[in-house]
Amino acid sequence: MIRTVATTPFSDQKPGTSGLRKKVPHFSQPNYAENFLQAIFDATERPAGSSLVIGGDGRFFNAEVIRKAIRMAAANGVAKVIVGQNGLLSTPAASNLIRQRKAAGGIILSASHNPGGPDGDFGIKYNISNGGPAPEGVTDAIYKRTREISEYKIVDEDAPDLSVIGTSRLGETEVEIVDPVADYATLMEELFDFAAIREAIAGGLTLRFDAMHAVTGPYAKEILEKRLGAPDGTVLNGVPSEDFGGGHPDPNVVWAAPLVDLLLGPTAPDFGAASDGDGDRNMILGRGIVVTPSDSLAVLAANAHLAPGYKRGIAGIARSMPTSGAADRVAQKRGIGIYETPTGWKFFGNLLDAGKVTICGEESAGTGSDHVREKDGLWAVLLWLNILAVSKESVAEIVKSHWAEFGRNYYQRHDYEEVDKAAAEGLMESLRDRLASMAGQRFGTLVVSEADDFSYKDPIDGSVSTSQGVRIVFSGGSRIVFRLSGTGTVGATLRVYIERFEPDPAKHDLSIEEALGELVRTADAIGEITKRTGRAEPDVRT
Ligand code: G6P
Ligand code: ZN
Repeated sequence: MIRTVATTPFSDQKPGTSGLRKKVPHFSQPNYAENFLQAIFDATERPAGSSLVIGGDGRFFNAEVIRKAIRMAAANGVAKVIVGQNGLLSTPAASNLIRQRKAAGGIILSASHNPGGPDGDFGIKYNISNGGPAPEGVTDAIYKRTREISEYKIVDEDAPDLSVIGTSRLGETEVEIVDPVADYATLMEELFDFAAIREAIAGGLTLRFDAMHAVTGPYAKEILEKRLGAPDGTVLNGVPSEDFGGGHPDPNVVWAAPLVDLLLGPTAPDFGAASDGDGDRNMILGRGIVVTPSDSLAVLAANAHLAPGYKRGIAGIARSMPTSGAADRVAQKRGIGIYETPTGWKFFGNLLDAGKVTICGEESAGTGSDHVREKDGLWAVLLWLNILAVSKESVAEIVKSHWAEFGRNYYQRHDYEEVDKAAAEGLMESLRDRLASMAGQRFGTLVVSEADDFSYKDPIDGSVSTSQGVRIVFSGGSRIVFRLSGTGTVGATLRVYIERFEPDPAKHDLSIEEALGELVRTADAIGEITKRTGRAEPDVRT
């Protein structure tokens, strides 16, 4: 029985960088999730007979909303829903399922790397038929619908048991519960030289993968331990939990500190990696070295041809604007295209669909390729392992010879979290006001060569995105970027991205203070960070 329930709009359902994210108590208000889901059903195109993929990262509230989403899909005439067993699907696995099953789209329940639990974060995002996050035209239409919604539809019957793989019916709708890992693992086996990696591991290559109590545990166990023969215990924190063991499932030096300590310590394995809540981010480490996401993108792009899936080379590379220019140098040397997009994986979708780029990456710990339309944590891990297995070099050797060949982009991001919103917006506004007069100004030894507010015209569909971050470039190519996060849920998060290019291999072993100290002090002087936010130090340096 389809029931139509009267509701009234919420004013705050505008999707951010990656879907709608709020605290669980906010999301669990009566009708809050239902309104947003109904807006998705109303505002998105679904050809008759088409299917929809539904899954999430297993965080608190996931199971409840998945059951609602299935019942609402049935009430809204969706012919078939494909759901990960127990409601679990990593974001890249969901993207793969949408593509493989030619679904009209997918509903992914995740707040990515944000903490979970009853007081943690929750999120819903919509992906379109190419498997990628909905572009702004679609998220705007969903938002518009949330402002005028007056009813939602749901079937009375309960959703089927999500733990049982197989097909059943809910009203007119077919509900298929699938193994969340199988198809994804098969895709990875097609892209990478599993035999070579297996041999390297059997021959003594040691590794640890920290799943951070999040969704990648089952994926990593199946792929790394079962299919590639890494010993039991290679996967750390491999059982997904609703509150991620009380931590932030964010693979960076702060939240994955135990893994970092292990890799920088005396008993380090050869290779270490971690992924985030929904499995799309990654962190890469070697014995004695943490590889920055920007460097990882450049190294993967330069060496992708060592993996069978990319043996014919790559068409081009895309990176988000705040990501360092390390990948640009690979593209220039190899004579392939390089694209600079706004922050957010959704901006890569058109370039990937048009075949302009094969590999994409962001400083925010995301790398991926045209195999799906999301960033993919385990993909990056497997490409690294493939490169290690074939080159027989260590992570540190690979990174250092990469710098020697292409130059080193010293890089650091400073985050000021939960800053007063008005103060953060005032800081950005003041920077924008001063942009026109900045060129030629001197700060210590640094002279500004250009300054602008990044805007992007999509080369495929012509859409324009403005105000994507303030860039201040100095003669010599050093750069400071200021941007407000689009994913925070409390106050504002100010991100300051600091970069210096160093071509001379004799200067590739500087400390971060030696390499970036002057730029860091200049960022405070230009941005008036301390003065405007009251913060003398960032909360996180990555
Ligand atoms: C999400 C998106 C990424 C993006 C990141 C930026 O993780 O999936 O594509 O880079 O947000 O987050 P921020 O907090 O800097 O807006
Ligand atoms: Zn994520």
